[in-house]
Amino acid sequence: MKHVYNFNAGPAALPREVLQKAKEELLDFEDTGMSIMEHSHRGKHYEAVHEQAKNLLKELLSIPDEYEILFLQGGASLQFAMIPMNFMKQNQKPGYILTGSWSEKALKEAKKIGEAEEIVSGKSSNYSSIPEIPSLFSDDYTYVHVTSNNTIFGTQWASFDHLEHPFLIADMSSDILSKRFPVEKFGMIYAGAQKNLGPAGVTVVIMRKEVADKANKELPTILSYETHMKNRSLYNTPPTFSIYLLKLVLEWAKELGGLEELERRNKEKAKLIYDAIDESGGFYTGHAEKDSRSLMNITFTLQNEELTKQFLKEAQEQGFSGLAGHRSVGGCRASAYNAVPLEACQALKKFMIEFQEKQGN
Ligand SMILES: Cc1ncc(COP(=O)(O)O)c(C=O)c1O
Repeated sequence: MKHVYNFNAGPAALPREVLQKAKEELLDFEDTGMSIMEHSHRGKHYEAVHEQAKNLLKELLSIPDEYEILFLQGGASLQFAMIPMNFMKQNQKPGYILTGSWSEKALKEAKKIGEAEEIVSGKSSNYSSIPEIPSLFSDDYTYVHVTSNNTIFGTQWASFDHLEHPFLIADMSSDILSKRFPVEKFGMIYAGAQKNLGPAGVTVVIMRKEVADKANKELPTILSYETHMKNRSLYNTPPTFSIYLLKLVLEWAKELGGLEELERRNKEKAKLIYDAIDESGGFYTGHAEKDSRSLMNITFTLQNEELTKQFLKEAQEQGFSGLAGHRSVGGCRASAYNAVPLEACQALKKFMIEFQEKQGN
């Protein structure tokens, strides 16, 4: 089998052990003579998987009892619309903190539903850092929306200490499960699974139960959080295979030592690549300001377009996959999510140094 180092931004690398286990169980799940994909979502075998996935997430992220975990579809993008649909109120606007393209998209959707306001934006510096948050922003906002990790620009909130609002909502699509964070600070957290949690197809929503009680009750049934809460995410057929793989990924994370160990590994991995950038004497330039650097998505450019193309071409030949930057910004991006092994980052660092040396730098 061809050996690759998978640095894709999402869908992204999955732990090899998880894929191996899924392969072993694919045709015959727990001696039932059927694949988990063929089981009814209302049957006891799938139901057990569904509950185990929730329990593992609760345990790993230390989610308090006042929260419900939902498994939805439509990606994080559907959440951009469902959030304002459920929580916007007349005469009260939500506020959005803009730290990149995904937060812009979230605000754009909110504006289609009603009035919504930008609180602060990092756009003027091309989203190279997490902007300074106004120390006192109004509690009058219905909710305040943030994006914890900016997948395209490669920036990440180092902490949420200075962020205070009674109803905070975070899009954690690209850094959930990568480090510990205070769940109880947020009314709602959501994440498409296809980076750190599993394959595409399921979106995890973690919501304080009282928040759903206050949501708009006049929505089409499928778009209401209340529906999914009341039905334990089984109102309609959930993406059962994606949730099964999510459960395997969570088991893998627990076995590894949980969030603390994942964070330790992620720091070690990202440091290797940031070191290659910082020690290159300007041959590679990081996009993110140092204090806003993401542990998940490491974005950088070379001195010109031609060199970037050459770098990406040779990297591909050497087995590095997914290193091209997002089509909207160009350059290079190494996504070192949980499942990317240390060896892949060591190999990338070595490749970056050798490429630079070959160019006579
Ligand atoms: C931070 C962030 N939010 C939202 C999305 C959109 O997710 P989806 O494709 O699941 O709708 C992405 C996708 O990369 C993302 O990185």
